Amino acid sequence: MTESNIFTQYMQKRNVIVKNKKILQSSYIPDKLPHRMDKINEIVEIIAPSLNKDKPSNILVIGKTGTGKTAVMSYIGKELRKADVEQKNCSYIYVNCEVVDTPYGILYNISNQIITDPSKRIPFTGWSLDKIFSELSDYIDKEDKIFIIVLDEIDRSFQKNGDDIFYYLTTINEVLQNSRVSIIGITNNAKFTEFLSPKIKSRLGEEKVIFPPYNVNQLRDILYERAKDAFDEGVLDDEVIPYCAALSAQEMGDARRALDLLRMSADLAERNGDVLITAAHVKSAKNKIELDAVSEVIKTLTIQSKTVLMSVIKNTEDGMSTMTTGDVYSTYKTICDAISQSVLTQRRVAGLISELDMLGIVHARVKSFGRAGRTKEIELNTPKEIISMIKSDEVFKDLDSYKPQKQTTLM
Ligand SMILES: Nc1ncnc2c1ncn2[C@@H]1O[C@H](COP(=O)(O)OP(=O)(O)OP(=O)(O)O)[C@@H](O)[C@H]1O
Ligand SMILES: [Mg+2]
Repeated sequence: MTESNIFTQYMQKRNVIVKNKKILQSSYIPDKLPHRMDKINEIVEIIAPSLNKDKPSNILVIGKTGTGKTAVMSYIGKELRKADVEQKNCSYIYVNCEVVDTPYGILYNISNQIITDPSKRIPFTGWSLDKIFSELSDYIDKEDKIFIIVLDEIDRSFQKNGDDIFYYLTTINEVLQNSRVSIIGITNNAKFTEFLSPKIKSRLGEEKVIFPPYNVNQLRDILYERAKDAFDEGVLDDEVIPYCAALSAQEMGDARRALDLLRMSADLAERNGDVLITAAHVKSAKNKIELDAVSEVIKTLTIQSKTVLMSVIKNTEDGMSTMTTGDVYSTYKTICDAISQSVLTQRRVAGLISELDMLGIVHARVKSFGRAGRTKEIELNTPKEIISMIKSDEVFKDLDSYKPQKQTTLM
């Protein structure tokens, strides 16, 4: 028998109920994509001529996050390779512009998917864009076929580097004699095209394919299909999938979010040593996802915003369930004093309170006090985990012995 170690207790408690975890990861591409056959067919119809060495139109694929754009294109890529096994007429090239976002990086990445001879590879840095472009064009032309280049998250590259890369890639056909290149751009931010030069905009968007968000029934089908392969029978309570689908449909119709909920629910059940995944696990998973999102936001707050939030927390702990901007401000001044930080004006602090309100961390309602004027009624709207996170922030380490002075001021 193996000796016990620090993992033993954990391994014994964990009751493995997910047959295949990989299937629930959002990077997994399933063989079937329910409710996207229409979009698949729409794109296939446009690019099918490539199999006869005819250049298809460029396409812009547009849809909100989690609507299956990347999954659909990767499915089509696989099918295209099956239809032309030796890649005699057509090559499919995929670049994720979130990962590779400079024009050089994108051309380098494309080139090295085409150039198979390692001694001919383009160097990682050092060449001019024109040189790498002309080398790439030569290689493409030598192959005498159609290249379908998919640029996923195309707006990312644009945000950082402007439209140079699109200029290179949409004009490449002008220097080619034999081969032809078609571009498929994918984006979840349709607005970015407004900033492209008119010529590039019309070239990139010769055809547009729009992916709408999924509705609750579609999300349910997607989850059932994934769950069939991921779980053994009987480990999912009947209400789990409809619940995950309903929560995600309410938000944005995002399949990634729905899958994350299902995967995290299964994880929580396993960690508890439970044998059945239930709606209660989904609820906890939802809370955890939301908590993670709020903690991310908290991490990005400036010290001044954190101090304002800390003032609301301190007032709440002092018995004020609701408070005015003046209440927050007087506590804020004392905290600034305690941590030796500059004091902003009440007006600026009111602005920071509005920002915290927009982020959903506090609630601020305008309230009228008749002749006394109007003020904001502020309430803390943050789970206790976030409160502890703020309180344990390095900035406030000297505040433990602090007690706010009560003082009510109307703004
Ligand atoms: N119709 C579908 N059937 C099965 N799984 C799907 C379907 N649509 C999306 N998914 C899954 O949902 C997750 C998110 O999809 P995908 O990555 O394709 O979204 P996206 O539209 O590219 O989002 P983003 O704009 O954020 O990149 C992936 O795990 C994908 O496999
Ligand atoms: Mg994507």
